Amino acid sequence: MSERDEAVTATEERVGTDDTGTVSLVGSGPGDPDLLTVKAAELIESADVVLHDKLPGPEILGRIPEAKREDVGKRAGGEWTPQEYTNRRLVELAREGKSIVRLKGGDPFVFGRGGEEAEYLAEAGVPFEVVPGVTSAIAGPAVAGIPVTHRDHASSVSFVTGHEDPTKEESAVDWDALAATGGTIVVLMGVGKLQAYTAGLRDAGLAGDTPVALVERATWPDMRVATGTLDTVVDARDEAGIEPPAITVIGDVAATRERVVEFLRNDGKRGDDG
Ligand SMILES: C[S@@+](CC[C@H](N)C(=O)[O-])C[C@H]1O[C@@H](n2cnc3c(N)ncnc32)[C@H](O)[C@@H]1O
Repeated sequence: MSERDEAVTATEERVGTDDTGTVSLVGSGPGDPDLLTVKAAELIESADVVLHDKLPGPEILGRIPEAKREDVGKRAGGEWTPQEYTNRRLVELAREGKSIVRLKGGDPFVFGRGGEEAEYLAEAGVPFEVVPGVTSAIAGPAVAGIPVTHRDHASSVSFVTGHEDPTKEESAVDWDALAATGGTIVVLMGVGKLQAYTAGLRDAGLAGDTPVALVERATWPDMRVATGTLDTVVDARDEAGIEPPAITVIGDVAATRERVVEFLRNDGKRGDDG
């Protein structure tokens, strides 16, 4: 056990008091500081400590004084800080009476483990509040000119994790069912397994020419977009060198970008087609 973990464990055993601080589980939005909510910005400003990973992006993190930042994302050596460490650290800081912002990319309750942290805090008797953020699942497509619903193209949208391999028997994502909805499919954490789930969706009956867009680092200064179809998007990803964090949008709405991109100013100054 590291020194840092031991310190947290020791504090865990302390009994909470009336002076216990509050934890704010805050969504940062997708990365553009102008997309922070007013409430998020105020809480960051007044917090004693901000626990964060890399997802809020360099522009937002760069505005937070280093003295009050604690990175609970990737540790040196490329390993993730264990969730258990983060949970215990939140409780430890709260019991010291600190006001704590737990800053997460996008919305804290969308694939953000915010729900797990809320349960842990409640069990430990630590008061907390949830500050919703602009999720990349909607903002990512939007800033690329893609509405996730559209009266002519999609009347439903599904948000799924791309971590799941569709060839795995125990996959928690039912790709066959998703293919049958006829709605937009937005995949988070879906760069690495793009080949597997695009093939899975074709096997499940979606046409190979179904439009697909990849939006990398949406709203960051170096945002990029690559477009293709279920048949071609893996090549498009590789040609453009698209890397996480990126959103995959699958469905007819992805083709609307072509019709608006000439006049779209979101990524006019911030990037171009990959
Ligand atoms: C652990 S999930 C967190 C999602 C986050 N809670 C949200 O609501 O946006 C991480 C994934 O979110 C997506 N993501 C987050 N920020 C992004 C951004 N600025 N541009 C593109 N994708 C982003 C990527 O798919 C990334 O792999």
